[in-house]
Amino acid sequence: ENITWELEEIEKGKYPHYMLKEIFEQPESVKRAMQGRLDEEYATAHLGGLNMSTRELLEIEQVVIIGAGTSYYAGMLGAYMIENLARIPATTELSSEIRYRNPIVKRNTLYFAVSQSGETADTLYALRELKRKGGKVLGICNVVGSSIARESDGGVYIHSGPEIAVASTKAFTSQITAFYLFALLMARMRDLSFEDGLILLRGMKELPDRINAVLKQSEHIKHLAEKYSYARNFLFLGRGLNYPVALEGALKLKEVSYIHAEGYSAAEIKHGPIALINPDTPSMFIVPRDELRDKVITNMKEVKSRGGKVIALCTEGDNGVRQIADDTIEVPEVNRYLNPFLMVVPLQLFAYYMAIKLGRDVDQPRNLAKSVTVE
Ligand code: G6P
Repeated sequence: ENITWELEEIEKGKYPHYMLKEIFEQPESVKRAMQGRLDEEYATAHLGGLNMSTRELLEIEQVVIIGAGTSYYAGMLGAYMIENLARIPATTELSSEIRYRNPIVKRNTLYFAVSQSGETADTLYALRELKRKGGKVLGICNVVGSSIARESDGGVYIHSGPEIAVASTKAFTSQITAFYLFALLMARMRDLSFEDGLILLRGMKELPDRINAVLKQSEHIKHLAEKYSYARNFLFLGRGLNYPVALEGALKLKEVSYIHAEGYSAAEIKHGPIALINPDTPSMFIVPRDELRDKVITNMKEVKSRGGKVIALCTEGDNGVRQIADDTIEVPEVNRYLNPFLMVVPLQLFAYYMAIKLGRDVDQPRNLAKSVTVE
């Protein structure tokens, strides 16, 4: 494995900022994360680095994923997928919290420590605490040979290439790729049929092309970022698999544009955040055509009827959504599990263009560090 990055990988090339370059690299980086790991013959995934036998994988009764920042949100989506597809109870914990909760480590629980850099202190110390108690911890890291990669019992390298911008983008889509692969593998050992496994696997193979189609809309997204740059507060709302995506979209906007943004489950707004709605506080709704679409549309109407502006991130040609939203960003239709990949990319671009419009230091936002090696 190469520990030093190639020089061309760490140059910006034709892009004005690393963040934009890394957003546009995602068709390639997602492909790399899947490379050699998808098996069409058995409709499953191969993850050699787990260092676990099939029998050991079969014995897992619970999965707990830890991480910080963007890696935490990737883990949250990972937990949803593992539970949904493999029917194994799965949860996410903030690294900084689990360490001091005197975590209960059980024999058949598998832990994942997610970290792009592999050096985040909160995650590293939590990993050590879990291991000290006899927990089995796998790493999902980008940087080869990093502390978390070395100290874990095995894991999955995401092979994103160097991520230089402080705000994480391509690492997120690769981290979730790793979780989709793991979920597929575990699900195919359990209840997922060959046919259903193949549908997901083929959908994953098409992701790079679909992400490319989303990237082609960057001018439209830039225009929307400019249109809404008056806002000092923003809500990001999604449900199910797209709830973690809403949280990540809000985090991106905060990090690079310094606009106050909150991510919520669209269903939760009636329990409080709806009080914030006014014409100066727009809402970004993530509303793909899936089993929760109609419920989210109801939430959109609640916001509209209180004078809130709505941008809807939806499936191409969704007239029902178009009729309600002030603006839409439309992405290609994919297998419903795969929507998060296409939904997060416009949110990254939206945050980027907002930051540019407001004159922020996109690659080096104030007060933030790429890798936080203190607690
Ligand atoms: C810092 C960075 C974030 C990142 C988080 C976790 O706070 O600014 O962008 O998501 O650390 O980093 P890791 O390297 O562990 O994924």
